[in-house]
Amino acid sequence: MKKTLLIAAVFFSGQLIAQDAKMNAFITGLMSKMTLEEKIGQLNLITPGSGIPTGSVVSTDVEGKIKSGKVGGMFGVIGAEKVRQAQDMAVNSTRLKIPLMFGSDVIHGHKTIFPIPLGISCSWDTALIRQSAIVAAEEATADGLNWVFSPMVDVARDPRWGRVSEGSGEDPFLGAQIATAMVKGYQGTSLSDKKTVLACVKHFALYGAPEGGRDYNSVDINRTRMFNDYLAPYKAAVDAGVASVMTSFNDIDGVPATGNKWLLTDLLRRDWKFNGMIVSDYTSVNEMVNHRLGNLQEVSAQSIRAGLDMDMVGEGFLTTLKKSLDEKKITLADIDRACRKVLEAKYKAGLFEDPYRYIDENRKNEILTQSKRDFARMIAAQSFVLLKNNANALPIKKTQRIALVGPLANDRSNMLGTWAVSGDPQLSVSVMEGLLKQTASPVNIAYAKGANITDDPSLAKQANVFGMRAEIDERTPAAMLEEAVAIARSSDVVVVVVGEASEMSGEAASRSDITLPASQVRLLHALYATGKPVVVVIMSGRPLALTNIVDGASAILHTWHAGIEAGNAIADAVYGAVNPSGKLSMSFPYSVGQVPVYYAQKTTGRPMDPNNKFSTKYMDVPNGPLFPFGHGLSYTQFTFSDVQLSASSMTAAGAITASVTVTNSGFRDGAEVVQLYIEDKVRSITPPSKELKGFQKIMLKAGESRTVRFTIDASVLKFWNADMKFVAEPGAFGVGIGGSSADLKTALFTLTK
Ligand code: BGC
Repeated sequence: MKKTLLIAAVFFSGQLIAQDAKMNAFITGLMSKMTLEEKIGQLNLITPGSGIPTGSVVSTDVEGKIKSGKVGGMFGVIGAEKVRQAQDMAVNSTRLKIPLMFGSDVIHGHKTIFPIPLGISCSWDTALIRQSAIVAAEEATADGLNWVFSPMVDVARDPRWGRVSEGSGEDPFLGAQIATAMVKGYQGTSLSDKKTVLACVKHFALYGAPEGGRDYNSVDINRTRMFNDYLAPYKAAVDAGVASVMTSFNDIDGVPATGNKWLLTDLLRRDWKFNGMIVSDYTSVNEMVNHRLGNLQEVSAQSIRAGLDMDMVGEGFLTTLKKSLDEKKITLADIDRACRKVLEAKYKAGLFEDPYRYIDENRKNEILTQSKRDFARMIAAQSFVLLKNNANALPIKKTQRIALVGPLANDRSNMLGTWAVSGDPQLSVSVMEGLLKQTASPVNIAYAKGANITDDPSLAKQANVFGMRAEIDERTPAAMLEEAVAIARSSDVVVVVVGEASEMSGEAASRSDITLPASQVRLLHALYATGKPVVVVIMSGRPLALTNIVDGASAILHTWHAGIEAGNAIADAVYGAVNPSGKLSMSFPYSVGQVPVYYAQKTTGRPMDPNNKFSTKYMDVPNGPLFPFGHGLSYTQFTFSDVQLSASSMTAAGAITASVTVTNSGFRDGAEVVQLYIEDKVRSITPPSKELKGFQKIMLKAGESRTVRFTIDASVLKFWNADMKFVAEPGAFGVGIGGSSADLKTALFTLTK
């Protein structure tokens, strides 16, 4: 058996080498025919400006540029017909007929929009997440695309940063598992399959840690922190074979990522052995001028020397590289390398074999199908996190009379969430529509808006940049409130749907105050005052500081922005067809003043002691979050046995097994995410208080028990030490297993020399 496997592996790697040799020969041949201008043209990625331009410039004279070989790829061109038009220009009008590649920000689905990535990450279900990428790739390729600017894997611990919505939260281990699942889902087993796309992991690197949570701001992270807490998800994507990497806007050690040789060449290419294509972010080459690194020619030269292959939108490469070559600021080898990487990406996607592989007007019927919508509904419900549920306020019986209240209760325009560039909000299902389909009788649902998302015209205006998301009602806030309170009084239960407009998070949507807007807080308090049970459904693109609204709520279901099937999925959870099982992938702060607050914080030399003034604490709020990482309730209960270890010590070459028995001790079937944390009790650099190192999501029938086992070996004990060596140091370790980072059964073992 082993021998057959070995032979298969040798055969397979032999095949790969043969394929690579074939590709290299093809590209060498092609490049030998290319002029300098044609090579530089391949490095140019443009957008004609449909879709959502996120920078201040869009490309001009697109047709002229394509026809004269000045374009390597495009994004923001969606739909087989349009893509065909552009591809025709490249293939029929350029001298060497080099096909274009077509990208898009397919972030959480293409047209069938899934929940925002932060929501999806709360499912902790990597098989499901991989499936979401498979479905998205199928739909994107049916629309002419072959390259997606996803996954976004930036570890983020500051919920003021609006782009936390696009990632997988605060933890590098969970983030790495999700990055792997996404890349494998998008790329499948063959990049040239007409239903797979080239993935692009972004934003390399550390974009998730801007100072003050303000987007595009400077990042300053020391090396051990960087390696121990931030880099793992990018590395996981590279190890999973991601075809491309997008650089980030921020600087690292003072050098913007896009022009950072240490980052792109030493780390990514040399140490991680990445052999795909590196693309800049939107005008991030040009923005190095604002970073004060020099003029456009200088920063473009710096970027290509640093290892950047493709320049998104800004055309610094197109307009200055020849001059830099003439002036010997760069070498032909720099341009050849970058050009080869772009051509390789096209080759791998099968575009030289067939430039029209992904352009098939007959595949329209694969877009927005019922089965894709069903999938979106299912994954949406898996992303919900039940933060609180007093006295089984949820689920609600279908015969109960519901006062459905809130600015997001009868809303479609915010369901998709941020970064749904190809999604049509009007195709989404509102909560009202979802509930009406499932209630025993439509007369059970009475609706009132109750409040605006915000009464602040400036905030509303900023939320409305891509269309009306936060409409300010003509009625006075008092009149709206009064109507809501009146229907609440004559109901059995209030379901109030509040939160952020979709564009209150996402790119360039940082907030310094992450409580619910005052209009909604007022509404909630007025509803609490009626004495009716109030179920709060919260939609947002980030963790919110909910301290001022949590006590009065009977239940809180956090649904993020749940995508095209939001309303149906929420009705599934509210009425109990689905039992929530999501777990937070990012802590919910008690107050924004604590930020960053995350479970893996270090213990400090003066650990928190309420009786000791000189210990680490705030005078006015607790140290811990309001809802911790890993938290999430269910309509049933789970109990955990003590942790059993197969041995109390191990060597670096050995392993032990940690096990717990989990019992569904409630009355409903449900899923629990069993989480494994490791505490390094003594080490040469200060450790996080604990770190997630494993998880398993299990389904248990009411009354059922199952033993869950985790293997612990040196790989989960290793960290980057002060000498930047990846080591496991002998000594004592704690093992914690439970259903939340804050509720663990623990045991101890020793790693011996
Ligand atoms: C974003 C990227 C995105 C790109 C292209 C940029 O502003 O930072 O995440 O892929 O625009 O739309």
